[in-house]
Amino acid sequence: MSRFYVTTPIYYVNDEPHIGHAYTTILADVVARFHRALGDETYFLTGTDEHGQKVQQAAEKRGVSPQQHVDEYVVRFQEKWDALNIQYDQFIRTTQDNHKSVVSFLLQKLWDKGLIYKDTYEGWYSVAEERFLTDKEYEEGEWRDVKRLSESNYWFKMSAYQEDLINYIHDNPDFIQPAFRKNEVLGFLRQELGDLCISRPKARLNWGIELPFDNEYVTYVWFDALTNYISAIGYPNQDETFKQWWPVDFHLIGKDILTTHAVYWPTMLMAADLPLPKTIFAHGWWLMGDAKMSKSLGNVVRPLDLANEYGVDALRYFLMREMTPGQDASFTMDGFISRYNSDLANDLGNMVNRITKLLGRNFDFILPDPGETMPVDSDLVQHVAALREKVASELDQMRVNYAITHVFDVLREINRYLEETAPWKLLKTDKDRAGAVLYNAAEALRLSAVHLYPVMPEKISQLLEVMGTSAKSRFSEDGWFEWGHNKPGTKLGKTDGLFPRIEVQEVPEEAPEKLDIKDEISFDDFMKMDIRVAKIIKAEKHPNADKLLKLQVDLGAEQRQVIAGIAEHYSPENLVGKSVSIVANLKPAKIRGELSQGMILAADDGKVVSPLIPLKDVDPGSKVR
Ligand code: ME8
Ligand code: MG
Repeated sequence: MSRFYVTTPIYYVNDEPHIGHAYTTILADVVARFHRALGDETYFLTGTDEHGQKVQQAAEKRGVSPQQHVDEYVVRFQEKWDALNIQYDQFIRTTQDNHKSVVSFLLQKLWDKGLIYKDTYEGWYSVAEERFLTDKEYEEGEWRDVKRLSESNYWFKMSAYQEDLINYIHDNPDFIQPAFRKNEVLGFLRQELGDLCISRPKARLNWGIELPFDNEYVTYVWFDALTNYISAIGYPNQDETFKQWWPVDFHLIGKDILTTHAVYWPTMLMAADLPLPKTIFAHGWWLMGDAKMSKSLGNVVRPLDLANEYGVDALRYFLMREMTPGQDASFTMDGFISRYNSDLANDLGNMVNRITKLLGRNFDFILPDPGETMPVDSDLVQHVAALREKVASELDQMRVNYAITHVFDVLREINRYLEETAPWKLLKTDKDRAGAVLYNAAEALRLSAVHLYPVMPEKISQLLEVMGTSAKSRFSEDGWFEWGHNKPGTKLGKTDGLFPRIEVQEVPEEAPEKLDIKDEISFDDFMKMDIRVAKIIKAEKHPNADKLLKLQVDLGAEQRQVIAGIAEHYSPENLVGKSVSIVANLKPAKIRGELSQGMILAADDGKVVSPLIPLKDVDPGSKVR
């Protein structure tokens, strides 16, 4: 029997769980479920990172103790993972006693081995980032709130392991995946590796695990956090529990924490004489596409809320199908809906409906006898039989999206099989053969769908019920993964559609309002207007009205005063020197006590008011026709 141990990062407890955290966690859940289904002894660890300055500050702000704060906040992750059907074996919290004592033990061990030393460091310290900057960072970046700080701290001799680590990476091609991430780490290791600061004076940070050899200090974030992967499984007890799980099969992480996992952690393990992880797998970034602006759904969408609306499995499916592990992916509402509709509602859902309807109508929902196997049948059986290996080998590389496409390839084969054998025609001529064909199609569907169970545990369970069986967590038992597991005579269930289509209500573009045009005038009427180009030579505020400006304009042969209602849109000094158009023969009038001889023409769309200006320089007084 094989064993399989998989971890997610432990997430900062202060954050609100979001699509990124959910992705890593669902990915771990899917591979863990798959290994469980294969019959492997499986351990799936996730949890929260609960020490550090941010937590301390957040607690202070709320006026509660840090422990009380994390106890309240951790629930958000635990509830979210429950809601998303995450079947972890342990949820570790770094504030647990057993974890804290393992961190102490490890620190003491390295201290005793002379691998930790105290040193004073002076450098540029970013208050905002709570860390020292390298000189290069300081020179190249734009930092607010940076001060010169000198501080004594404890350091782990990470530099001692640089060569060993480089060699290890070369000798173990699977250690860092995908391969391009390995090259990134090797690139990083081409520079000289420094030692790692692992402490903070208590004066600066209180909320952490005390150093066993100096109670004036606590250990700093990464030394604490990374150790969770071994404290959770019983280190340092060299009993069966720890030994059977370590080294871990997969540390799943996002690309943001590659260096800490592929450099800090392995050197810590080397120092502790422990084997290194088999694989550190860094996936890419979820980017928010235009989800926020999606018209089809109206409001702002938080991806995790989609589970409430369309079901947990629709969300799990989308996240697993859409991202090519290693690369970035973009979350858009349109992408979500089209994946759902085309893969789940159409390809999978319709096939279930089609097969069960034919069996219901013609065989009273009883699975018929497969009869004699024809070549076309064995082709289908072979496609299905090959699936397990394909899926397993994709999952060995965390390529869940490809694993899913293999399943859908087989669904297409089933469709082709049905088209070719046409059981609906056979029903009239050879009902036994029609029954055999439908048995084969139903069994192919069941067996393909089983491979999607780790991704969509609820929906596939329902689907399997419809197919006359029920889901089991260990598919390896009872010949679940075998063709023919479902016996003739099995009673099938009914379905009203496992994956109802998402009907997108297109919000019609707002029709432009009808142009509200004034009554027609004759050409002669129009010609009565005398419009001229006028150059503004002086502009000031109207003494009695906020919205009005008093302008002096040049019309070539004469100058005039014009009052214009554009004070809210233009300041007087910006108008001087501009040429505008005015209605020059408008009867003069006094506007709020000031004479206006003419009117400036301006376009107004309700938001912007813009005087009409000639495109080219023309002399003041020129006619506008
Ligand atoms: O770094 N896309 O915790 P964290 C994909 N406590 N994944 C994302 C993501 C995104 N946009 N945003 C976050 C920490 N993630 C430390 C880890 S481990 C010993 C300590 C996921 O809360 C991804 O897995 O910032 C990433 O590595 C992790 O959340 C970071 O979580
Ligand atoms: Mg982060």
